[in-house]
Amino acid sequence: MAENNQNAATGNTPVKPKPAAPGAAKPAAPGAAKPAAPAAAKPAAPVAAKAQPSTSTGGGVYKPPVDRPDPNPYKDSRLSPLGSWFQERFYVMMPVIDYLKKKEVPQHRLSFWYYFGGLTLFFFIIQIVTGLLLLQYYKPTAAEAFASFVFIQQEVPFGWLIRQVHAWSANLMVMMAFIHMFSTFFMKSYRKPRELMWVSGFVLLVLSLGFGFTGYLLPWNELAFFATQVGTEVPKVAPGGAFLVGILRGGEEVGPETLTRMFSLHVVLLPGLLMLVLSAHLLLVQVLGTSAPIGYKESGMIKGYEKFFPTFLAKDAIGWIIGFGLLVYLAVVFPWEIGVKAEALTAAPVGIKPEWYFWAQFQLLKDLTFEGGELVAIALLTVGAIVWILVPFIDRQASSEQKSPLFTIFGLLVLAFLLINTYRVYAEYGW
Ligand code: HEM
Repeated sequence: MAENNQNAATGNTPVKPKPAAPGAAKPAAPGAAKPAAPAAAKPAAPVAAKAQPSTSTGGGVYKPPVDRPDPNPYKDSRLSPLGSWFQERFYVMMPVIDYLKKKEVPQHRLSFWYYFGGLTLFFFIIQIVTGLLLLQYYKPTAAEAFASFVFIQQEVPFGWLIRQVHAWSANLMVMMAFIHMFSTFFMKSYRKPRELMWVSGFVLLVLSLGFGFTGYLLPWNELAFFATQVGTEVPKVAPGGAFLVGILRGGEEVGPETLTRMFSLHVVLLPGLLMLVLSAHLLLVQVLGTSAPIGYKESGMIKGYEKFFPTFLAKDAIGWIIGFGLLVYLAVVFPWEIGVKAEALTAAPVGIKPEWYFWAQFQLLKDLTFEGGELVAIALLTVGAIVWILVPFIDRQASSEQKSPLFTIFGLLVLAFLLINTYRVYAEYGW
């Protein structure tokens, strides 16, 4: 990849490696591999290195050339001794770094929307940091969870702030992910060759919602307890749903085992999966670069290009600083309540509802009250999600750089469904 980028950037044609003479394991003579002066010949080095047969076994097996004539073909006199030390060891990364240095982002009137991916990432980083701090005092058992939350909130220095920031950042992360998803949808950023950015992004959203769902129960308060009871009841009507619910609850009902399951999902499985998928998503962002809306290039609507490093990233950082300010403001001025400790035997309080990002689905379930309505709602939501994730593959017009108004209308309908239903739950139950 790196070499391709390098060649693409410089217009070099990759040199075909010469077949190795039988038994020839050593790199070619120094003269053949020695790079020219750094500025002019940087790209030439990997090509030359590639031309050297690097395997004694043949058959295309890559073997790092330990005996290479020049330990660092990219030697750069401007680097500090420490920089050179690392460069010598990671020299294969140089074409990638070179590519990233050259990467540019188009500027146009919708550029603003490209900051929401970075903001989502920022709130996720805040989640990791504050989550790790909360873990130092949180006790994931039904007997101690609630008390440990009270302790964090009242006794641990700045514990209240960390908890509030964690709770608010979770909400902001999901909100930013939604804004990011719809903005990339309406700009048709999912079109070829960015299909996998869309698919991996959607998986990230599902994982983020999973974080919200599993985290909700952790304080072990009444509201969360009964909301989890209701929430985990829903899939039971679908085929195989009861099995899934059994795994989630760790038994017939929501109980201490459910807390253990939710805790392990929240702090081990989901973060691991999210980081894996996020790495793929961000790698694709780097490799494929940032898209521009359909027709912008042709009609001269691109005002110019700016460097990703450092210009775009510096602007991203301004967004992060604003996001951080908002986060601290919300945490201090609008703190989340702890509520009362969950007791399985007490009656469910009135007005049980999930977190706001599940309200649209919750309202749909409430609307379809006829016999089998829940199953219909689950089927509709599942089919909807499958179509949504497959949009890049269905919208052939966008992939051939033509406007696709039908998909814009589809996106508007999905957005309207989410907003209207969310508002209806708010109007009925309040915040
Ligand atoms: C944890 C959640 C997510 C994080 C941290 C994240 C991060 C990012 C970042 C930093 C970018 C580059 C800057 C930008 O274009 O905004 C990006 C691009 C992109 N993301 Fe996400 N993303 C997330 C979720 C999603 C979701 C839910 C979708 C859609 C279903 C999505 C689809 C895309 C697409 C298509 C691009 C390419 C934009 C373009 O080049 O025009 N992402 N993402």
